[in-house]
Formats: sequence, C-alpha cells, structure tokens
Amino acid sequence: MTDITKTIHGAWSSRFAFILAATGSAVGLGNIWKFPYITGENGGGAFVLVYLLCVLLIGIPIMIAETMLGRRSQRNPIETMELLTEEAGADKNWHYLGWMGVIAGLLILSYYSVIAGWASAYVLKAFTGSFFDADAAAIKTLFDEFVASPIQLIFWHSLFMIATMMIVARGVNKGLEKAVQFLMPALFVLMLLLVAYAMGTNSYFKGLNFLFVPDFSKLTANSVLTAMGHAFFTLSLGMGAIMVYGSYLPKGISIAKTAFIIAGADTLVALLAGIAIFPIVFANNLHPDSGPGLIFQTLPIAFGSMTFGWVMGILFFVMLVIAALTSSISLVEPAVAWLVENKGFSREKACVWSGLATWALGLGTVLSFNVWSNVKLFDRSIFQLLDYLTANLLLPVGGFCIAVFAGWIMHRQHSEAELNLPAQGYQLWKVLITYVAPSAVFFVFLHVVGVL
Ligand code: TRP
Repeated sequence: MTDITKTIHGAWSSRFAFILAATGSAVGLGNIWKFPYITGENGGGAFVLVYLLCVLLIGIPIMIAETMLGRRSQRNPIETMELLTEEAGADKNWHYLGWMGVIAGLLILSYYSVIAGWASAYVLKAFTGSFFDADAAAIKTLFDEFVASPIQLIFWHSLFMIATMMIVARGVNKGLEKAVQFLMPALFVLMLLLVAYAMGTNSYFKGLNFLFVPDFSKLTANSVLTAMGHAFFTLSLGMGAIMVYGSYLPKGISIAKTAFIIAGADTLVALLAGIAIFPIVFANNLHPDSGPGLIFQTLPIAFGSMTFGWVMGILFFVMLVIAALTSSISLVEPAVAWLVENKGFSREKACVWSGLATWALGLGTVLSFNVWSNVKLFDRSIFQLLDYLTANLLLPVGGFCIAVFAGWIMHRQHSEAELNLPAQGYQLWKVLITYVAPSAVFFVFLHVVGVL
C-alpha cells in the first residue's frame, strides 16, 4: 500500500494561504453574477432562506469532509479516491467519484469562462464611458447588442481561457496567494459602496424585502434544487476543487475552523451583491427575473450616475474578472493535477489540452445566447443545460458521495485523527455528514423527480 503520510506535492505556506486560496475559489461569478439572478428567477426570500440553510447544514459539513479527504491523501482527487478506498478496504467503484469531479470541473469552466468574458468586456465598456449617464433602457440595449455578437463573445471567452491556463501552467500556489490577499478586501469595500448607492435609491427597502422576506408560495421543487445546487456551486464543492486545495494543506491545521471562515466570507459577498442589486432593479422598473444578464443590466446604471462612477465601474469589473480567475483556476486544477501526476504530462502540455477542450465546449454556450438561442433540449438552451447538469445534478451527486464516503466508508479513527476536533464538535459533524447532508440531498432529488 502507498504510504499515505508521505507528501508528494507542494504545500501552502500557512493556514492563511489555504484560506485565501479556497476563498478565492469560492468567491466568484457564483456570488456576484449567479446568486442575484437565480434569486430573482426563484422569487427571492424563500429561495435565499433555503440557500442559507443548505450552506449551513450541507455545505459546511461537506466542505470539511472534502478538505479532509484531500489532506489525508495529499494527492489529486482521482488518486485520493483510489488511495482512500484502499485504506478503508472499500469498493473500487468509488474511483469514479474522482473522475466525475474532473469532468464536472471542465463542464462548468466551459460556460464560466464565457460569462467571465462578459465581465472582461465590461471592463472595456466601463473604461470607454459606455455607462455614462445611460438610463436603464440604454444599458439593456448595450447588453443585448453585446451578447448578440458571437464574434465578440468568442474573443473575450478566448482571452479569459488563455489567462486562466497561463496562471494554472505556472502552478496554483504561486501568484495566487498574493492576488487573493489584495482582492478580497478590495472587493468587499466596493460591494459596500454599491450597497451605499442602493440605499440612496427609492427602492432600498423593497429590495431588502424581496431578498429577506420569504414567500413560500413561490418555492417549487425545482427552486429548492437550484438553491441546494447553488450552495455546492458557490462553495466550490462536490467536484474535487476543494479536495485539491485540501491536499496542499499542511497537517495539523484545523480544517473545521477554516471551513467556517471560507463559507462565511463567501455568503457575505453573495448577500452584499443581492442587497446592492435588487434596489437598483426595482428603482428602474426592471424585472428581478431577467436572467443571466441581470448584473450587466443593473450595475452599469449605478456606475453611470454615481460620483466617481467611472473609476468604480472599471474597478468593479476588473475585480469581478480577477475573482472569476481565482475560481476558474480551481475548476481545471483537478484535471491538470491528474494529467501531470498520473499521465506524465508536463504542466504546460496538460494546460494546453484541458484548456483547448474546455474552450471548444464553451463555444456552445457562446452560441446559445445568439445564433443557437432557439436550440432547446428539455426546454433548455445549451448554456442552461450545462448549468443544470453541473450545478443541479453533478455537484449534489458528487457532494452526496463525498458525504457518504466520509461518514460511512472512511474509518472513524481516520476522520477523527484528521479533523482533530473537540468531542462534541466531531460528533456534530459526524451526524451532519452521515445522516443530515446525504438524506437532504436525497430528498430534494426525490422531490424533483416527483416521487414525494
Ligand atoms: N465557487 C465559484 C463561484 O462561486 C465557482 C467554482 C470554482 C466552482 N470552483 C468550483 C463551482 C468547483 C463548483 C465546483 O463562482
């Protein structure tokens, strides 16, 4: 059996470095772009409440479990699953979990990169003063004309993919720590300024009401699934990203504490984004359910009219792009780590191949916003299908398996040793990971399928 205590690849320089990298992975388009628009599409308050419950009861325990599996084996997710099933004497089919994660990561990145491309294009639009004094209608036209152009979307998608792969080629724990260290506080301050702007509109309380007062009549089985899927998506769980980062975590650092910090920071950014955006939506008679264009149709209105709006607009979209970069890195890292550590690829070659495949797949998303907007499968466009398949199915299934593995398969003394928690804390986690998280995922699925 392979020696599980041997370190085989690089490590973070400290606990803080791990927190930064994992927060960098968690905070991204999911918080600022996706959370507001799916909240708008799913009726607001009740959806937000379900999402928060999912983060607390399912997300955090699974984040602890996923980090733990990575750190125990100190290898990429595919090898982690091989090694840990061997250690627990479990069935070889667990190996597929690592594979599923690699595939889910590349599928997500294919559309993530397209949207990050939009954010990059908006840096330029902010810079050239496109938002200046523009009203809601002009901002909407700007967006509609932009996404109608496949050439422009392909250009920005390509640029973002190249940037991602260049960073990944240099190795994850090099420049990343520093980027995130400066990014998070800056992003936070900008979000607060946007919230201040939202307070000045006449619809601040209407926005808050929409976000925080639950109306359960708006909650369908599918919105519950979307809320749960988003808890996985926003925390980067269920596909091995956090497992890879955990594998770089030195032994002896408290995993549980770091999980709370990461999930807390991530949730805060999402809520701030919602608090900033919905008042602007209502003040301009826009619709909360405008879909993936929501932030691109609302925030520029704010930048176009506020003091220092020009600088703020540029800064905001630059930071959104960096936040997306630190997330997309973690989406390819499992694939790259596996190609390098198991298939003998050089890091550069692994990046070129996984980057090219993801880029090509991303073209489907690009076209689903224009030329192929009428191409529907199961009533969904290519983009919607990829999003549903990954966030609502693959990640929860991946998370479910991680929970079952950590709760039922892994020997208790191993998880106890790895987590090193006080008795009560360990017991609480054990109950959540063994019973609560898996059955919650299971029941939501049954509900959507219509069995319940
Ligand atoms: N969490 C990121 C966001 O909210 C997206 C992301 C990065 C992700 N790595 C992931 C999602 C791994 C799922 C799995 O933008």
